[in-house]
Amino acid sequence: MAKVKVEYACTSCGFSSPKWLGKCPDCGKWGSLVEEVAAAEPKYRVAVDAFPASKPVRLTEVSGSAEVRAKSGIEEFDRVVGGGVVPSSAVLIGGDPGIGKSTILLQVARGLAREGKPVLYVSGEESEAQVKLRAARLGVEEKEIYLLSETSIERIMAAASEISPSVLLVDSIQTMFTSDLPGAPGSVGQVRECAGRLVFFAKKTGMSVFLVGHVTKDGSIAGPRVLEHLVDTVLYFEGEKGHPYRILKAVKNRFGSTNEIGVFEMRSSGLAEVADPSGLFLSERSGDTSGTLVFPAIEGTRPLLVEVQALAAQSFLAMPRRTTIGADTNRVILLCAILEKKAGFSLYNQDIFVNIAGGFQLDETAADLALSCAIAASFKDQVIPAGTAAFGEVGLGGEVRAVPMAEQRLNEASRMGFTRVILPASNAERLPSKYPLALVPVRHIKEAIAHSQKQGRS
Ligand SMILES: Nc1ncnc2c1ncn2[C@@H]1O[C@H](COP(=O)(O)OP(=O)(O)OP(=O)(O)O)[C@@H](O)[C@H]1O
Ligand SMILES: [Mg+2]
Repeated sequence: MAKVKVEYACTSCGFSSPKWLGKCPDCGKWGSLVEEVAAAEPKYRVAVDAFPASKPVRLTEVSGSAEVRAKSGIEEFDRVVGGGVVPSSAVLIGGDPGIGKSTILLQVARGLAREGKPVLYVSGEESEAQVKLRAARLGVEEKEIYLLSETSIERIMAAASEISPSVLLVDSIQTMFTSDLPGAPGSVGQVRECAGRLVFFAKKTGMSVFLVGHVTKDGSIAGPRVLEHLVDTVLYFEGEKGHPYRILKAVKNRFGSTNEIGVFEMRSSGLAEVADPSGLFLSERSGDTSGTLVFPAIEGTRPLLVEVQALAAQSFLAMPRRTTIGADTNRVILLCAILEKKAGFSLYNQDIFVNIAGGFQLDETAADLALSCAIAASFKDQVIPAGTAAFGEVGLGGEVRAVPMAEQRLNEASRMGFTRVILPASNAERLPSKYPLALVPVRHIKEAIAHSQKQGRS
């Protein structure tokens, strides 16, 4: 029997080596090299012959400059992809098993089919009957949706060329293979090659291609990292275990912002859009706990109210803990130091825990003021009056600095019934209009803490 030649490929960056190595010399990751069947001869001949060779053209002469985006009708989805699906684009959707990747794709397919865009849904994981079963549960019955249960990339491209859909959905890229490479589906070489061919196919035919990607235990898309470089847009579909809520995020987008999020609720009839996420994140808030405060965050272009919770408890450790969920630990350590030095709080013997309710991830410095007030209130065991929100950046001197999009934050707070907002004085001076809530402009963290515990207009 002919001996099979093996090689070792890095699951993170795609580096390949003839022998096993503990650490990838290319990306530096440990234990990332996996055994694979080596290609008998390198065959990276992408299906070039099928298309005429392109010629250089003047930029001014390129046609189709007006961007035409196809809307899926699912607003939360369209916003995350930058206002609709761009023709010839390749989108990768990653997510944990069972999070709802196939569900959202099927719902997007329905929206696009309703707009008169034919969709080819290729499943390498489920039979046509299984996909049909889900479609029936979701009430998807558009004639313009074609199903194909196939894993050979050559046959998929042949089928797509035959019916020329506007959108090609591939669920999932880890189940696809090309007969030009000997590796098993899901191996680094196969995933990279199949994705590369599909992206090339999209650019040449004008179809938009969606690829579903599984994620590994550490949360990154399984397969080579290059996969994320190959495509135009990378979306992650996330959710907390046991919660029906799902968040769709763009982590890379060549055609739009990466700050937008789409919020959905998983129901038996499919994913329902949550148009009012502030209500969702605040729904279980109780008004009489010490150390909690609401922060009007900005996600992309949209304001979102989230509850910041802090707990200061006496520490019995030589090095008190600073544990955070949903906030940057280094930022919290820095704020604790500022509270200690500039506002006179002795936190050196306190364990500090910070949690952002609802599994939300804070990544703005505008949350500094809310975090500091929550920590201070928990330390003093004081309840910040319900109806109070705070935003602003805190500098190392304890000074409160202006942050962007103050008006949007105030509008959202007043829409959700908040009566008092503590904000940077420099933001308050520049506000163009009056707000139906009490504004508490502050210049120093000490002022903010003093005001956060007082009721009424200052
Ligand atoms: N009858 C139902 N009622 C409510 N929710 C359901 C029902 N059937 C499925 N679901 C939800 O749909 C999820 C599965 O969705 P879907 O198959 O789209 O996920 P996926 O991300 O494609 O999974 P995989 O990684 O296995 O392909 C389940 O985890 C469950 O939350
Ligand atoms: Mg699936």
